Amino acid sequence: MSPIDTGPAIHVRNLTKSYGDLRVLDGVDLDVARGTIVALLGSNGAGKTTAVRILSTLLRADGGTAVVDGVDVAAQAAKVRESISLTGQFAAVDEVLTGRENLMLVARLRQLPDPGRVADELLARFALTDAARRAASTYSGGMRRRLDVAMSLVGDPAVVFLDEPTTGLDPQARLEVWDAVRSLAASGTTVLLTTQYLDEAETLADRIAILHGGRIIAEGTLADLRALFPPATVEYVEKQPTLEEIFLAIVGSAGPRHTEES
Ligand SMILES: Nc1ncnc2c1ncn2[C@@H]1O[C@H](COP(=O)(O)OP(=O)(O)O)[C@@H](O)[C@H]1O
Ligand SMILES: [Mg+2]
Repeated sequence: MSPIDTGPAIHVRNLTKSYGDLRVLDGVDLDVARGTIVALLGSNGAGKTTAVRILSTLLRADGGTAVVDGVDVAAQAAKVRESISLTGQFAAVDEVLTGRENLMLVARLRQLPDPGRVADELLARFALTDAARRAASTYSGGMRRRLDVAMSLVGDPAVVFLDEPTTGLDPQARLEVWDAVRSLAASGTTVLLTTQYLDEAETLADRIAILHGGRIIAEGTLADLRALFPPATVEYVEKQPTLEEIFLAIVGSAGPRHTEES
């Protein structure tokens, strides 16, 4: 953990990134408090992966600042990498290796003492002990993604980025991964996850940031976002808007900023 423990785990100001003429990030501002789960919610193509790749030092921004665990991602990328992990949209699990071997491999890469112990602890934490010595190719989708999340925790990173952790999973596997993410945050890890699923953001996140048109157009707790839309009252029955209704109302009113308009 960095000496600057008290600041936010992630601090982003006016982040910009274009691919050619396509302005994907157009001034993103975001703060993520330590030990919280924040969902970066946006449609397909909104720029979620681009943002996460910049924050995890895989991609350079065109402008703006991003500070992760007190360290500037552009100025000190290597130092940032010491305190983060990234689980991408596509699992990094090696199918030929067992679950335990996958974890030990990462522990060795991170030069941790006693990789076997590190692996066993994570296997237990993610309910994979029984499957520890089976090839990952025999795992269900949910088990594989859980192993992937476990691998991202080797070495206790302060900040974990999960890019669409449940995309492509069946409902049961999604629930398993949600439990895994909750256990992360319960242990004090800061989690920034991207999702295009409104129910995922609603269930998992302490705060939700909606990325649209290259910017964060709304940010807050679910209650904050709901407060933007007073409940519709019909006689004596209050109807709370769902996150889906809030999302569509905000996104619809903001309008696309960088779509295929010529
Ligand atoms: N390397 C790249 N070169 C050109 N365009 C890209 C590249 N990566 C992403 N894009 C485009 O940038 C936009 C945002 O992509 P991405 O960050 O992957 O969105 P999301 O993760 O929200 O689906 C999309 O229109 C995508 O096609
Ligand atoms: Mg993506």
